[in-house]
Amino acid sequence: MTSAATAIDQPTLIEIAPTGQLTGATRHYEKQLGDMAGVYLDERAWTSAVEREGAETLIYSVDEQKYQDGPGALIVGTSTLLPGSYGDEFAVTRGHLHAISDRAELYYCLSGRGVMLLDTVDGRTAAVELTPGKAVNVPGHWIHRSVNVGDEPFVTLFSYAADAGQDYAIIAEAGGMKTLVVSDGDAGWTTIPNPRHRGYRKASA
Ligand SMILES: [Fe+2]
Repeated sequence: MTSAATAIDQPTLIEIAPTGQLTGATRHYEKQLGDMAGVYLDERAWTSAVEREGAETLIYSVDEQKYQDGPGALIVGTSTLLPGSYGDEFAVTRGHLHAISDRAELYYCLSGRGVMLLDTVDGRTAAVELTPGKAVNVPGHWIHRSVNVGDEPFVTLFSYAADAGQDYAIIAEAGGMKTLVVSDGDAGWTTIPNPRHRGYRKASA
């Protein structure tokens, strides 16, 4: 036995609304249309959206609650991705691989209709549709991005290890993810190969 007391954090009650509002958030950030340069294949569609709607148009917002930075702690938060499309491609978040790449993440759909688009650096790809009540348990080593394929905000609750971090550059350096989520010409979605994708570099951790 040691006399040094172990610091044990207090449990936290978090209230989460279907709209994504979350009590006790320790971090909030937003991405605007102007931040999404180079993300969509159809550059002209993105440029004309910027001209029409303004670079400061909100695309998505994230609220999260973290009580400590250690590897044993969880971050809990919500992501709200607004509906939209650029050419045939649906609105997306930037997406990332966790900087500590073996870190997993849970996404649970609170409202709206979306897709979790997933790639591994060695060429595997997956797309999982999420509607309220459905969740995807994303293993470590998967690059992940949310896509809104509906006509209302796509809101997810997420949770992942507090030390995971995000590597956003891995997608941009690869020319985007391996596939694009596009309209199927009806009310649905499908994936098509991304012609700009040139493969991923190895993860840094
Ligand atoms: Fe993540």
